[in-house]
Amino acid sequence: MSPEPRCGRGAEIELTDKTRKIVGRGGGKLILLGEHAVVYGQPAVVAGLGKGVTAFALLGQEPTLELIDGSTGRSLARVRRGDDEPLARAFAAILETIAPDARVEVQATVDLPLGVGLGSSAAISAAVARALAKASGKADAFELVEAAVDAAEAVFHGTASGIDQAAALGGGLFIYRRTDGFPEETALHCRPITLLVCKAGKAAPTSEMVSSVAALNSRFPEHTRSIFESIGALAAAAPAALAAGEWDMLGELMNLNHGLLAALGVTTLELDHACHVARDAGALGAKLTGAGGGGCVYAVAPDNEEPVLKAWKERGWRTFRFELP
Ligand code: PMV
Repeated sequence: MSPEPRCGRGAEIELTDKTRKIVGRGGGKLILLGEHAVVYGQPAVVAGLGKGVTAFALLGQEPTLELIDGSTGRSLARVRRGDDEPLARAFAAILETIAPDARVEVQATVDLPLGVGLGSSAAISAAVARALAKASGKADAFELVEAAVDAAEAVFHGTASGIDQAAALGGGLFIYRRTDGFPEETALHCRPITLLVCKAGKAAPTSEMVSSVAALNSRFPEHTRSIFESIGALAAAAPAALAAGEWDMLGELMNLNHGLLAALGVTTLELDHACHVARDAGALGAKLTGAGGGGCVYAVAPDNEEPVLKAWKERGWRTFRFELP
């Protein structure tokens, strides 16, 4: 057996056989409360999803990344390292961090809807980074994998809080706070509950939504600060509601949070509509999840799950169920 490769930039990739596939995985996420404010240091509550992305690394001629739709097997995108588009630049950032000289073809099978606020970009980055780390003999180099996912997320998100990376790499239900040093992550307890998710339109790129909030923040710093603090207080109140199964309380926190996200300008007609449809069908609360500008809403409706799902489906929206914890 060859000795353990040096752990650091430029180490030789271990793939020597075209038929050998190295696997890495990353999970999606659902932000329960606190998106956008989390970029400004406020706490946010997030749940890792069971679904996500599985990446296979294979020995190749030049570094390429292909995304495959997990439900249809169709190719969604194929990029080369030097291409000038976000997916290619994120892939280049991962390669640069983990294995700059790797001649590797990566296929990433995506079992999440893309670009709707369910953390698909971080799940892709985590899966690709883990596959590359394993392929280059650095499977245990967690910090390198984290650094690679951070670099890729900076391409997708601009100023990212790190919440998606934390969920993609670690999963679970937790409260997250960005700090100047290591982010704070505290695992949460939760009574069993089904969350209902609805995809109400295509989301805008996260980086655009984060930039639009940053622009608002630079024009109205006092006002946005109080919105961020209010959102943070809602997120900080959620762990007690989750642990006690106080779904009325959780619903109210969600409704308030959605209103504050509207004040930040990140909702859309469809997202607002999907929230109202859910509440009218008996949901205790509904809010957008993720960066907004389109994408997903989620609702909590312990006694009215079927009516809420039916009301969404009747309007042509795709729905999912998601069990917590
Ligand atoms: O990845 P998205 O679109 O779910 O958004 C992530 C959450 C934001 O707070 C909007 C950005 C961030 O990095 O925290």
